[in-house]
Order: sequence, then structure tokens, then C-alpha cells
Amino acid sequence: MKNESICCINNDFSIDNLKNLVTATYGDTQPLCYLHSFGCQQNATDGEKLKNLISKIGYGFTDETEKASLIILNTCAVREHAEDRVFGNIGRFKRLKKEKPDTIICICGCMAQQKHIAERIKNNYRQVDLVFGTFALNEFYEMLYNVLKTKSRVFNITERQEEINENFKQLRDNKVKASVPIMYGCNNFCTYCIVPYVRGRERSRTVEAVYNEVSDLVADGYKEITLLGQNVNSYSYGFPMLLRKLNTIDGDFRIRFMSSHPKDATYELIDAILECDKVCKHLHLPMQSGCDRVLKEMNRRYTIEEYAKIIDYARNKKPDFSFTSDIIVGFPGETYEEFCETKKAVKRFKFDNIYSFIYSKRKGTKAELMEDNVSDKQKGLWLRELLLEHREVTVSWLSRFVGKTLRVLADGEGRTSENHLQGRSDENIIVEFIGDKSLTGSFVDVKINKAMNWALLGEIV
Ligand code: SAH
Ligand code: SF4
Ligand code: F3S
Repeated sequence: MKNESICCINNDFSIDNLKNLVTATYGDTQPLCYLHSFGCQQNATDGEKLKNLISKIGYGFTDETEKASLIILNTCAVREHAEDRVFGNIGRFKRLKKEKPDTIICICGCMAQQKHIAERIKNNYRQVDLVFGTFALNEFYEMLYNVLKTKSRVFNITERQEEINENFKQLRDNKVKASVPIMYGCNNFCTYCIVPYVRGRERSRTVEAVYNEVSDLVADGYKEITLLGQNVNSYSYGFPMLLRKLNTIDGDFRIRFMSSHPKDATYELIDAILECDKVCKHLHLPMQSGCDRVLKEMNRRYTIEEYAKIIDYARNKKPDFSFTSDIIVGFPGETYEEFCETKKAVKRFKFDNIYSFIYSKRKGTKAELMEDNVSDKQKGLWLRELLLEHREVTVSWLSRFVGKTLRVLADGEGRTSENHLQGRSDENIIVEFIGDKSLTGSFVDVKINKAMNWALLGEIV
């Protein structure tokens, strides 16, 4: 697809001109923006950066598309299901655009970064005005200016590798928990995965930039900081060192991070987690499969015994150390026997939580071309089997916390009953307890009385 260039059409672009144009287009009432981010927390941070930009040129925000003059879907491409949902939404915008032609409809993010998707939107979804990929955030103002001024459609999905723009701040909705990207992109090319194609190569923020941002967030009262990267273990300046450095920041807060690629997870990482009092004793370590042959086909570059070494090392030092994992069921060529090795591994490693997905074929990846003889229906049955297996392990494994007191960051109303609050422990396990809503957003010590398959029940001490 030809990339319609966006910067040179209107040489009169300036932020003031853009602001004036927004006012001229929508009159005296403040125009509203609806922005929804799909997918992972990385994508959500991009959404928050966009929100910040948008708030500075006169827009307010709304949760209702009908009230919006600017609709932005910040999309995810990781599985087909995610893309289907977006196309469903875009379809519904057709009527809206007809009734209110001034509404600007914009599709951005990982899905938009793919050529065939941009092409499809261009040809079949005329209601969409602006499509831009993950590399074009910097040009958002110019793109919007062009759409508003020329009333023409803009497509911008050029891939470029530029320096990280530290001027881009996030407009955060949550006042207690904050995500902080420490790196962007991915170099790993797992054969099933689209992320390296839509996010480009790895780029790390400097230690100083991360340290300053986390310090500011803590000073603003944030209680939980989650460091983000597709593989934080390849952070250029050393991830264990970063953890140690952030741990020196004064204040009552905790540090999480994700994700951590097993091939780069080291004993030093575990040591840093255990030494740093602010770092949660939990590691999200996506296993993907319990079978060495499948792991090899996935290009994961570890065996299940190498994976086990990390878990064993951590649990030797701290027996209740919490691990969670991602698992793909039904990778091309996977047999039922190989799937059973994954089930066995889930039992062996006692994950506190697993995020399991049926393999989804992604255009342009290596696995796209691999033979796949198992039906989605069959894979669905395997997935259920896996979840049942996991559930069986969880209740008894979660029971290790019964009688112990866990520090919980209260999130709000619980599920069990009206007077219950819900929060997350350091291990990222859901904890329910009786408590007043005013505790929301603060740390409470909860003594655990009971383990269920989805949460722990306890009481404030
Ligand atoms: N960088 C992270 C993963 C990001 S994607 C990591 O490597 O840990 C999150 C999860 O989505 C992956 O761990 C994987 O389990 C799943 N996933 C990615 N591509 C997929 C695909 N094509 N089909 C099904 N699940 C997929
Ligand atoms: Fe995808 Fe693998 Fe990179 Fe994770 S590490 S984003 S699964 S390619
Ligand atoms: Fe995240 Fe989905 Fe993109 S998982 S990086 S939003 S493809």
C-alpha cells in the first residue's frame, strides 16, 4: 500500500492552528473524544499518551461513542479474536458517521500497523478517517490536522526506528496503579507471534528516565508501579540493576514488572527480586508449552528443564514464591501427547494463575506456514482440559497462604458480598475481605482464612 504522506500536505500546521481548527469545526461546545485501547498494558500506555495529546488541544473525554467527535480505537493484533472485535466495532460506526459526518474515526495501534489490515480498512470501511500504526504517535497532531482541514482520509503505517520521545507523557485514569514502559519492541520472533512485526526492534529507555518517572509517580501517591516490556530481561542497561535502583526510592509502594522471557531469566534476576523489599515476590514467566519439540518449533530457545531451573532456584530460596504463566494450546503440529506434556508441566510448576490461549494464526509469521491438522473445536476441548487440571492444582497450592498475613492493595468492591473488598497481594493473587470502601487505594494487612480456586478469603488484622 502506498503510504499517503502526511507532513507535507499542509505547511501551515501548528498546534495553535490545530486548536483553532478544532474550535472552528465543532463550535462553542467542547468536543469529546472516545478512546479505547485493546490488548496489553503496553498498548494501554500508548492510549494514555494519546489521551494526553488530545486533552491539550481542547477535547474532553466520554465513554459513549454517540457523544464523541473523535473516536479512537487503539487496537491489538495478537490473536484473530482481538481483530474481529475491532472490525465489529468499525462496522457499527458506519451509521454514526452517516448521522454525524463531523465525527472523526481513527484506528491505530498494532492491528493498524499491519499492511493488509490498513488496506482492508481503506477499501471496505469508508467511515474510517485516520489509520496510523505504532510508529506514528509522534505525528498525531499533524495527522489530525490534515483530516480536519482537508476532509481527506489519512493512512500512516510507515515503520521507522527512532529515538524514544521522552516528552510524551501519559494521561493516567488510575490514581493508584501506574504502568511505566521501560522498553519498546521485541527481537525474539517467536514463530507464532505478531508483536515483533508491529512493534519493531527493542529500544530501552534510560535508567534515569525510568527512575525519574517512577519517583514522580511515587511522590504523586501511586502505590503500585508496573514496569513494562515484551521481555524486560533484555533491558539494555540491566534489568536486575534497574530493580535495585528503583527499590531505593523512598515511599510506600510496590514494584511489578512484565513480561520476562524464560530464555533470559537469570538467578541474578531472582536474587534481585528477593533482595528488594518493594519488588513483588512474583514472576510472570510465560512457558507457552511443556513440550521441548513444540518449544523449539515456537523458537522459544529454552527447554522445559531449563525453565524448571529458574522455578527451582526461586522456590529453594522462598518456597511460596509465586509464578504465573502464559500458555498456547494447539500450536501447529502439536499432538495430544505433546499437549499432555503441557498439562503435566502446569501441575509440576504450580502456577498461581495461567493465561491460556488457543493458537491463532497470524499473517506474516513463520508459524502461519506450518501445517495445522487439529481443529479449533478440538483445541477448545484441550484448553478446557488444561484449565480443569490447573484449577485442581490451584486450590491446594493457594492454601499455602492460609494462616499467613498478606499485604493487599485494596482495589474496591469485592465479588463475595456487598461488604467485601477486593485487592491483590504481592503475589498478584486476588484477596477478598470485609472492609470499608474508604480503604480503596491503600495497603491493608489481611490474614488469610481460606483458599478458593479464584481468590483467597481473609480478614484485616
Ligand atoms: N512478550 C510477552 C508476550 C506478549 S503476547 C512474552 O513473551 O511473554 C502475550 C501472550 O499471548 C503470549 O505470551 C502468548 O501466550 C499469547 N500469544 C501470542 N501470540 C499468539 C498467537 N498467535 N496465538 C495465541 N496466543 C498467542
Ligand atoms: Fe511475542 Fe515472543 Fe516477543 Fe513475547 S517474546 S512479544 S511472545 S515474539
Ligand atoms: Fe500488545 Fe496486542 Fe500489540 S498484545 S503489543 S497490543 S499486538
